[in-house]
Order: sequence, then C-alpha cells, then structure tokens
Amino acid sequence: MDSPALSILVFRGHSIRLRIPSHITWRREKGGPAAAIPKLEAPQEGEALANLVVVGAQWGDEAKGKIVDYLAQNAAMVVRYGGGNNAGHSVTVGSDEYKFHLIPAGILHPETVCVLADGVVIDPGVLVKEIEGLQARGVSVANLRISAAAHVILPYHRLQDALEEARRGDDKLGTTGRGIGPAYADKAARTGIRMGDLMDPERFTARLQAALDDKNAVLTKVYGAEPLEAAAILEEYGRYAHALRPFVCDTPPLVAQAARNGKGVLFEGAQGTLLDIDLGTYPFVTSSHPIAGGACLGTGVGPTQIHAVIGVAKSYTTRVGAGVFPTELLDATGDTIRDRGHEYGTTTGRPRRCGWLDTVVLRYAAQVNGLSCLALGHLDVLTGLEEVKIGVAYTNGAGETVRDLPGDLPFRTDLAPVYETLPGWSEDLSSVRALTGLPANARRFVERVQDLAGVPVATVSVGPAREQTIVLDDVLARALRR
Ligand code: IMO
Ligand code: MG
Repeated sequence: MDSPALSILVFRGHSIRLRIPSHITWRREKGGPAAAIPKLEAPQEGEALANLVVVGAQWGDEAKGKIVDYLAQNAAMVVRYGGGNNAGHSVTVGSDEYKFHLIPAGILHPETVCVLADGVVIDPGVLVKEIEGLQARGVSVANLRISAAAHVILPYHRLQDALEEARRGDDKLGTTGRGIGPAYADKAARTGIRMGDLMDPERFTARLQAALDDKNAVLTKVYGAEPLEAAAILEEYGRYAHALRPFVCDTPPLVAQAARNGKGVLFEGAQGTLLDIDLGTYPFVTSSHPIAGGACLGTGVGPTQIHAVIGVAKSYTTRVGAGVFPTELLDATGDTIRDRGHEYGTTTGRPRRCGWLDTVVLRYAAQVNGLSCLALGHLDVLTGLEEVKIGVAYTNGAGETVRDLPGDLPFRTDLAPVYETLPGWSEDLSSVRALTGLPANARRFVERVQDLAGVPVATVSVGPAREQTIVLDDVLARALRR
C-alpha cells in the first residue's frame, strides 16, 4: 500500500501530522468488509487528543453519523449524550448501509468504546434489536457500555406520546412517536425508571407498579384507553434486562477517565440545536438537550474537559415535524432537494420539509454551541440547480432587517427570509476530494457559507460514502488536538 503524503502543521507549538485526505487507505472492520475511509493520522506517542462534541447545527438529520464515523477512527470513546431512538444516524460503508437509532456510530470501529450515557432515554426492546442486528452482520458490540442512570422508555410512554399527539389535533408537534417526551417528563417528575432499576427485579417491580398506578389512572380517565398490565411489562422487560445486563454500568467514571487521559472522546450529538428544549424553537422541540452543553449534562464530564465543538450542517435545511421554518421551499425546488437528498426520515420514513440554507440559524448554532468549525454536508444534492440561495437574514413586519434568531421565532408570522443568490453548478461532485477540485461556483458557495456563519468549514461532504469527504486539514487539525 502506498504511504500517503503527510502534512505537518504547527498549532500552538505542537506539530500535528495529518495524512492528505485525498488519499484513500483500506481498513478492516470488525469481521465486516474492508472499507475505504480517508485516514486520520494516528496521534504520536504522548500527544493528547481533544475531546470533541459533534452537534447538529440545524433541526436534526444533518448527517452527524457520517462525521462521527470518520472522526471515530482516532477516538478511544464515542458517547451518545442525549435523545433516544428518535434519532436516526446512517453510515455507509462500501455497499453496506448501517442505520443506528441508539448505538453510537463509533461501534463500527473495533477499538472504540461506545457509551450510551446518562442523558439518553433507552427503549430496551429497540436497543436489543439493534445489538442483535449488528451481531448478525458480524459487528462486535463487546465495547458497548450503557449507563445505569439512563432512563428507560416504557410502553406507557409510547402510548402517551401517541395519545397526546392525537389530542393536540391540528396543533400536534409531529413527534417521532417513540415515547421520548413522556420519558423525559417522567425523569423531570422523578417518577422515571432507570436502567439500573431495570437490572434489579425487586426495585423494577416496585417502581413500575407505582408508575402504573398513576399512568393507568390517566390512560383510563383522561384518554378512555385500556389500562396496562404490570405482569406483561415485567415479563417483556425482564427479557430485555437479561440481554442488556452485560453492558450496564456506572458510565460517568469511564467517560471522565477517558476524557482526562488524552485518548480522545467524541460526544455524539443527536437531534439538532433548534430542537433543544431550552434553546430551540420551543415548543416544537424534542425534550432533551441536543446542544453541545448537553454533552456535559448527559455524561458527567465538566465543561473544561471539552476542547472543541464541530457543528454539522447540510448545504440546505430540512425539518421533520411541525414548527416554523423560514426558508422552507414548498415548490418544485423543494421537491428536487427532497428527491436528490433522499430526504425521508431514517426513523419514521416521513418526507422531510426542505428549504434553502439558513445562516441565521447557523450563526445562532455557532453562538449557543460555541462552534469551533463546521462539517458541511450534502453539497452534491445542490448540483444541477441553476441558482442556489442562502438565507442571510429575515425582514420583519415593519420592513426591518433581523440578523439574529428571535427568541419568539416559532410565533413570528411576519418574518420573511432575505436571500443571497449564487450561481449554481452542474458538474458531478461525487469524486472531488479537495476544495480546489470543486467547480468554482460550488467552492464559492462553501466559502460564502463559512463567511456568513462566521465559523471555518472543516469538512465538506460530497456523497454518503465514507470516502466522499473533503477535509480541510488545517481547520480539522485545530479541532482534533488539544
Ligand atoms: P437525528 O438524531 C430530526 C423532531 C421530531 C419532532 C420533534 C419532537 O436523526 O438528527 P420527539 O419524538 O423527539 O419528541 O419529536 O423533534 N426530531 C428530529 N428531527 N432528526 C432527529 O434526530 C429528530 N429527533 C426528534 O420530528 O419534530
Ligand atoms: Mg433523524
């Protein structure tokens, strides 16, 4: 195998070696197929790797899985810090596609420890299926760890999710129906059941019985639904407990130690910034903290242990479910983007709402996450459009320009997007591996996004495959080393 050229970069007195990313090396998966991936240079002896958060910079579905898979090459640990199986992360390896809802995308890397941390809500039936699915494809899950403090999604959470949505009628949120909101609500109400409880049959029985007393009262009296039987849930969840027991432990010490020892911890965000329960477009949000700060809340590491935050964004915007979306395209261009980008939910199969890139949103994401750099994706999807627009601001009802995301955005019917229009490109991007290889107009688009977002672009994705990634060595190197 040819040895790829090395770039030597000096950053804060440290020399950093990165392989030129246009070179493709071959690596072996755990029992799976060899797969092409732009290789990250392994750290040198004694060199401390950064602990990184990968966060969605929009409304979710930014293709976080692909960048996590790429960065996981060098990470000792990949940690999911929030959300549950409302997430859908896809990784394409050769002709194989892996879809993850709970297990961190890092599981495809044999040495990487993958953690479902405290902030995650776990539907154990879904997790067991996901584990079995990976094992059936020859992927080992021996390195999976599940926090005993992660909350469990129970059948009544899924039921409540559906009943509450139905009751909202036209005002429904468009949740994924996975019981996420009700599970987090119980966590906040202190009536939740955690993975540690599930592992202890007596404790689980007592807490389930107490919860069911309340839940059944609501199900029958408020919704006129049938009550749930404790025995059936105990039996079903007893099986899950048995299957998951080998993986459950106290994860905060594991994560804290990995974060301290310089081997690189990757915090894998689910959902996106604007779905954050505090800082998103409330109430059209999820019930957790997808933002970078959620990595601290959801894992037990302190803010000083996080060295960089990579924001993932598409070259356009999508949204699933209800809520404001200023740059939404309800026309043929929106349909083209949906078709070309395969914009149908990984989790629910719903067609995603599509629109132009909104850099008001990106600047907001840069601010609330403290973004170090951007991983810009799906550039290839815009190929073939005569012109490409970028949302740069909004105008309000009084005709004034609004450059910052308003806190009451979900209720603002007066805002209209202000666009900058760039010429499109028609060249195929799928085999481009360097910024200089992009058609001039595509490159101009990337540079303009960087300027408008105020954050340097570290990677540009030109297709779903692992190797279809342009890596800006210098920018990425800064994020990868302490
Ligand atoms: P990934 O990790 C896109 C959206 C739902 C709904 C709202 C609340 O793939 O980026 P919930 O079921 O969480 O109570 O739904 O949040 N939503 C997502 N949209 N990607 C996701 O995850 C999402 N997870 C939740 O569509 O609007
Ligand atoms: Mg998704």
